[in-house]
Amino acid sequence: MSTSLPWYKTAVFYELYVRAFNDSNGDGWGDLQGVIEKLDYLRDLGVDCIWLLPIAPSPLRDDGYDVSDYCDIHPMYGKMDDFRRLVKAVHARGLRLLVELVPNHTSDQHAWFQASRDPNHPEHETYKDYYVWSETPERYQGARIIFLDTEKSNWSYDPVRKAYYWHRFFSHQPDLNYDNPAVQRAMLRTIQFWIDEGVDGIRVDAPPYLFEREGTNCENLPETHLFLKRLRAFVEAYAPGTMLLSEANQWPEDVIHYFGTGDEMHMNFHFPLMPRLYMALAKADRAPIEAILERTPALPEVCQWGTFLRCHDELTLEMVTPDERQWMWETYAPDARMRLNLGIRRRLAPLMNNDPRKIMLLNSMLFTMGGSPFLYYGDEIGMGDNIWLDDRNGVRTPMQWHDGLNGGFSNAAPEKLYAPVISAAPFEYATVNVARQEHNPESLLNKTRHMIATRRQHPVFGAGSFRWADVGSDAVAAYWREYQESQMLVLNNLSEQAMTVSIETRPGGYVNVLDQKPFNGQQIRLEPYQYLWLAPQG
Ligand code: NOJ
Repeated sequence: MSTSLPWYKTAVFYELYVRAFNDSNGDGWGDLQGVIEKLDYLRDLGVDCIWLLPIAPSPLRDDGYDVSDYCDIHPMYGKMDDFRRLVKAVHARGLRLLVELVPNHTSDQHAWFQASRDPNHPEHETYKDYYVWSETPERYQGARIIFLDTEKSNWSYDPVRKAYYWHRFFSHQPDLNYDNPAVQRAMLRTIQFWIDEGVDGIRVDAPPYLFEREGTNCENLPETHLFLKRLRAFVEAYAPGTMLLSEANQWPEDVIHYFGTGDEMHMNFHFPLMPRLYMALAKADRAPIEAILERTPALPEVCQWGTFLRCHDELTLEMVTPDERQWMWETYAPDARMRLNLGIRRRLAPLMNNDPRKIMLLNSMLFTMGGSPFLYYGDEIGMGDNIWLDDRNGVRTPMQWHDGLNGGFSNAAPEKLYAPVISAAPFEYATVNVARQEHNPESLLNKTRHMIATRRQHPVFGAGSFRWADVGSDAVAAYWREYQESQMLVLNNLSEQAMTVSIETRPGGYVNVLDQKPFNGQQIRLEPYQYLWLAPQG
């Protein structure tokens, strides 16, 4: 295995919501100690890096993306000392840790905002320009509204300051003013704080919206890139090796600028690829994936895409055409409750009608198509969702560990839990849980473990080049990955029909690295939704 690859090029990431994962003290909320207690589970799953959703103090009206103090821990999750123990415990297991930086906005409860809005506040002079204030709500009309289901405008009136403040997300999340150098410095200090605490990387939330300029859509502005380059330069000088991952939900030609020339973000999520994996599967046609990969520029050598099937948000359909969005809604979100903003608030297993073949086929593409995969907690056991909960809460329910009280998530009385455990069939915790799957080699959990372990043995999946293979049918997503001496031919049958396809013959045939079965000859029969990861022999 090559040693020169940056770790994140071949890593598998695991996204985890602390409140939902494991409650160590019986108060009904998950906490940092609870995560520590489950680290062996994550090590055994085989992931390399854990990404924690926001853990800083917050009123949690946006589950922590509404930060009220950047440099502390939410009291329900623990204390800084718990975080330090977590970092140690993570590193002791050879894992890495990613935390959030939410640079675009704070909670309206943040002390900065309280000082900024109130002319009589003793610190008003210092903070008055920390946010984007205006006498009129008419400015920046070119900016779209992101949380369409809850917000009518990007401006809200503050009766204390008697002015409007700018917010790209919820009205309780005022945007910081990046034209103020003090704000920029404060964000560098924040990142320094978490680096000092030993994190291995930072997920930078919602970077496209840092600056506003009249006559633009206020996204991806040159000023934003300049600041991100400054952030990177700071990190490079202060703690080289700290990985920066950004969440720019944009088209590939816009996202590419977030990598810079290798001097901005190390990683960016590939948002437009995600819905196209679902489209390709439902249409049994690889064309949607082909189209978006064709539109995806090559990356600087040290950079990497982050790929995912689901996350803590709705399955976003911002990066598709209106027709495609409608089709996705009709196909994957037939009930209006399943839809939110421009997306779908469902988890992976329900989206796949709980068909393990389809779940693993999507995982196969996620693990082999390029980029570094991000798994969302609970999807490895096929957890369900609760569309009756508000906003995105239905995909953030407690982790299901076993079939006992509260699915093993907490000892608290069920009414005390921050959210109900899934108890409706077929995803009820009595059936879908870690303990039940642990010892069954055919379970989703063990299949996922095996896939992760197999990917680990083949850096080609993280670092290799990509080229489509023509196997005679577009219902099979077939492609070559190549890195140095190693090659891999991956076949994914998107169809519910068995397919026989032709592949290039190789002198020694192929071996499916997932089960070591040899394949010789030109014709391969694939069962419905079957996938093969074929290493050519000789
Ligand atoms: C992106 C996060 O993923 C989402 O959960 C949050 O609501 C918005 N940023 C606003 O912070």
